[in-house]
Amino acid sequence: MTNPLPIKFLETDLEALAGISGRIALLVAPDDNAARSPAARRLNRLTKGALNRFLGSDAWGKVKPGEATDLAWPAGLQAEALQIVKAGPRADVATARKAGAAIGKAVGKAGVLVLAGSMLRAADVSFGLALRAYDFEPHKTAEPTARGPVQMMVKDPEAVALAANPMAAVAEGVFFTRDLVNEPANVLTTDDFAARLAAMQELGLEVEILEEEALEALGMGALLGVGQGSDSPSKVVVMQWNGGGEEAPFALVGKGVVFDTGGISIKPAAGMEEMTMDMGGAGVVAGVMRTLALRRAKANVVGLVGLVENMPDGRAQRPGDVVKSMKGDTIEVINTDAEGRLVLADVLWYAQERFKPVGMINLATLTGAIIIALGHENTGVFSNDDGLCDAFLTACKSEGEGAWRMPMGDAYDAKLKSRIADMMNVGGRDGGAITAAQFLKRFVKEGMPWCHLDIAGTALVKTDTTLAPKGATGWGVMALDRLIRDRFEG
Ligand code: BES
Ligand code: MN
Ligand code: ZN
Repeated sequence: MTNPLPIKFLETDLEALAGISGRIALLVAPDDNAARSPAARRLNRLTKGALNRFLGSDAWGKVKPGEATDLAWPAGLQAEALQIVKAGPRADVATARKAGAAIGKAVGKAGVLVLAGSMLRAADVSFGLALRAYDFEPHKTAEPTARGPVQMMVKDPEAVALAANPMAAVAEGVFFTRDLVNEPANVLTTDDFAARLAAMQELGLEVEILEEEALEALGMGALLGVGQGSDSPSKVVVMQWNGGGEEAPFALVGKGVVFDTGGISIKPAAGMEEMTMDMGGAGVVAGVMRTLALRRAKANVVGLVGLVENMPDGRAQRPGDVVKSMKGDTIEVINTDAEGRLVLADVLWYAQERFKPVGMINLATLTGAIIIALGHENTGVFSNDDGLCDAFLTACKSEGEGAWRMPMGDAYDAKLKSRIADMMNVGGRDGGAITAAQFLKRFVKEGMPWCHLDIAGTALVKTDTTLAPKGATGWGVMALDRLIRDRFEG
C-alpha cells in the first residue's frame, strides 16, 4: 500500500537554515508584514531582506490563510525554494491542515524542512502535509514520484510528536481507503480485496471471510443475486476491533461492489470505467478499521463489507427476478443496476442478528441521484436517530468533511411497493437517493440507531481537493474515527 511520508519533529536550529538543500517552508501569521519569529528573522537576514520585501508586498496580502507562495532559488540559501505559508501560531485546525497540504503538495525528492515555531496546531500541519502528499502510481511504469524526508522544527518536539501519532494512524487509514478506491477492478477483485483485509490481522484485527456457501446457508439471497453473473465469488468480510470492554460493538457496514456494470440493466459505456470505485463504502470501512487498530482504539467496533461484482452474463440476475433476503422479505429486482441496496440489505441484517450493535452506520456509493442533489461537496446523510446523526454531523464538521442531512418519510417508502413481492428495489427517478435510503431502512431493526451515508459524490472526485489530489479522497475515515473517539472513548 501507499505509505504516508514519515515526519520527524525536532527543535528549532537557526544555524542549520543556511545549509538546507531541499525546500524550506516557513509559517507566517496573516497579519505579519515583516519577519518576526526568530526563524523568519534569520531567513530574512540570510536572503538579504528578500523575505521582508515579500511580506511587505501586496502579493503577500493576497495569499489566503492556509495558502502559500514560493520564493524560488533564493540567494543566500542552499534551499531550492523558500515557501512562505500563511498560518499563524493560533491558526485553527482547518487552516493548519490546509497549510500542511500546501507544503505536502510541493514536497519533492529533496524533502522539506518546515519551520512551525510555537504553533499550537503544528501536529495538524504535519497531518495535512501527509494527506496531500499522496500519489497512486503502482500502474505507472515511469519512476515513481520521489518525495524526500520531512522534518518539522517546533518549540516542543515531544509534545507535537505525541499529538501527531494518532493522526498518522488516521493518515494511514485514509491512504488504505484511497488505494482501494483507486485500484482498477481487474486487480481489486473480490478475492484480492478480501486478501488485503485478511492481511490486517497482523495489526490485531480479527478478520473472517464468509464465502458463498456460508452466505447461502445464511439466506443472503439479495446479496448473492447481485454477484451471480460474475466469475469472482461474492463474499462478506467481518473485521472486529475489540479495544473496549465487554460492551456491544458499534457496526460499520460498507457496499463493496468491485465493479458495477449495471448487470443486465447495463450502464451506458461513457463513464462506466468510474464504477471501479463502487466499492468505496467498503473501502472507507476498511480504512477506519485500519486506523482503529493502528492507534489501538479503546472501543469495540465491527466492520462488515459485502464484496460482489455486478456483471451481465448468462447466469446473471434478470430484471423482474424475485429474490429473498436474509431477513425473509422478498424483493422484485426491477433494475439490476440498483444492486448496492440489495447487497447492504443482507449485510445490515447479518450485522444486527450476529452482533446486536449499539448503533450502525453504513456507507455506499449508492446513487447517482445524490450527486444531482449535493454535487461532490457533501455526502448525503440519512438517519432514523437524531442523536447519532447529530453526533456524526458534528464529527464531520470538526474534521472538515462535507455532510448534509437528507429527509426520509413514509411517502417515499410507499414508492417501493411491488405487485408481486414484498418490495421493489427501485422507487422511480424522483428522490432516487431518498427511496434508496428507505429501502435500506426496511432492513434496520426498530430502535436501532442508524445512519446511511451515500458517498457516490464524495468518494472519488475529478479535481484536487484541499487534502487530496484528484481521484479517491478517503472521505469519511477522519469523521468516523472522530465519532468513535468522541462517542466511545470519551
Ligand atoms: N453505483 C451506482 C451509483 C453511482 C453512480 C455511484 C455514479 C457513483 C457514481 C449504483 O449502483 C447505481 O447504479 N444506482 C442507480 C440506481 C437506479 C438504477 C435506481 C443510479 O443511481 O442510477
Ligand atoms: Mn448500480
Ligand atoms: Zn453500484
